Amino acid sequence: MMDPLVEAALSARRNAHAPFSHFQVGAALEDSAGRIHTGCNVENASYGLTLCAERVAVFKAVSEGARQFRRVAVVADTDTLTPPCGACRQILWEFCGNVELVLANLHGKTETFRLKDLLPRPFDASFL
Ligand code: THU
Repeated sequence: MMDPLVEAALSARRNAHAPFSHFQVGAALEDSAGRIHTGCNVENASYGLTLCAERVAVFKAVSEGARQFRRVAVVADTDTLTPPCGACRQILWEFCGNVELVLANLHGKTETFRLKDLLPRPFDASFL
């Protein structure tokens, strides 16, 4: 049986707006109440305004009042599982801390990480 968080990221991926890269990504966050928040990448003709699936999921969740997260899933159609970009790692750290991160593809391959292992020595509010 598929992890429901991965399943949520897979179905969010179907909404990806990626007419420029054709690279579709879905993300899902499980909050501390067990609620699932999803996102897909949303590209823009100016390219630089593109938002990744992970940041869309985080910002949607935060705007719904969620503040604590247990797990994150990211799905893309790659054999080597697609990790969050640097900007998304920073945003995920800010809101999710050293969260469990599940990467998956369309063929059922998954790998699980801790965010700290992908973002060592993170900058955050503890320095301010
Ligand atoms: N992208 C994501 O949404 N998440 C990732 O983890 C990697 C990259 C998007 C951004 C852009 O729309 C497309 O994938 C190609 O970079």
